[in-house]
Amino acid sequence: MSSLLLPASDLGELATPLLVFGGPYSNLEATRALRRVADALKIPPEQCLCTGDVVAYCADPVDTVREIRDWGIPVVMGNCEESLAEGATDCGCGFTEGTVCDRLSQQWFNYASARIEEDDRRWMAGLPRRLLFSVNGLRVMVIHGGVRQINRFLFASQSDADFHEELAGVQADIILAGHCGIPFTRRIGSQLWHNAGVIGLPANDGSSDTWYSLIESAGLGQLRITYRHLKYDVATAANKMADAELTGGYNEALITGLWPSLDVLPEQEKRATGQPMRFAEVLWQAPVSLQHNLW
Ligand SMILES: [Fe+2]
Repeated sequence: MSSLLLPASDLGELATPLLVFGGPYSNLEATRALRRVADALKIPPEQCLCTGDVVAYCADPVDTVREIRDWGIPVVMGNCEESLAEGATDCGCGFTEGTVCDRLSQQWFNYASARIEEDDRRWMAGLPRRLLFSVNGLRVMVIHGGVRQINRFLFASQSDADFHEELAGVQADIILAGHCGIPFTRRIGSQLWHNAGVIGLPANDGSSDTWYSLIESAGLGQLRITYRHLKYDVATAANKMADAELTGGYNEALITGLWPSLDVLPEQEKRATGQPMRFAEVLWQAPVSLQHNLW
């Protein structure tokens, strides 16, 4: 793995609240539902952060990209955007060849790649691989998979050593990450790793609802993070997938909340299949000793 951090763009200082989400996954109904949530909460576009993979499993790649672009929110490049921008032949998720994940991803990738137009590929190519910003006195980094590798899977059950390796030389207080599809938050020494989950596919928890998070001020230098369910028109999204012959199993997953393949999951996450997820509110304050000079 490269020791170099992925290139970054700096958003400067952001206000709270922040709405954080990953993986729209070509799910237009979920994307529009979340935009309505942001509107209802009066959260401006610059405070809505997407951790990438705008395009993936579902039936509306073009309209989902257009919805996100029209919304005008900050988005980090996911491996799906990277692959589509490069004209690659697969999604770049890093699935092992011949696995169910590999076979199913080929189905949606071919479907999406045949429809995404040049202008949207250029938009994808121009997306930053890391975003940096300050909020409430804390420094935040937004990534897709890992800080050095766009498609690194990092799940809640992985060892502290995996996260320490990932965070070596990273002086952000909070890392907002995506890619793995299952929400979790981990304290790693003096830093916080927060994965808001994805809105375009359930979290393999037996619910058709998907996940996003809200980050609010809890006083100077402190943030409160809460997970929220996203309810949206699941039936329409699933029916569109059936009509598009995207019937490899992710169409049913929208309804059942259960993934068609567990290939990428560590054992702990596999055992949690179908179990409802509950999250305590996270209150975060970075140690005052943390220096912010090594972005
Ligand atoms: Fe991804």
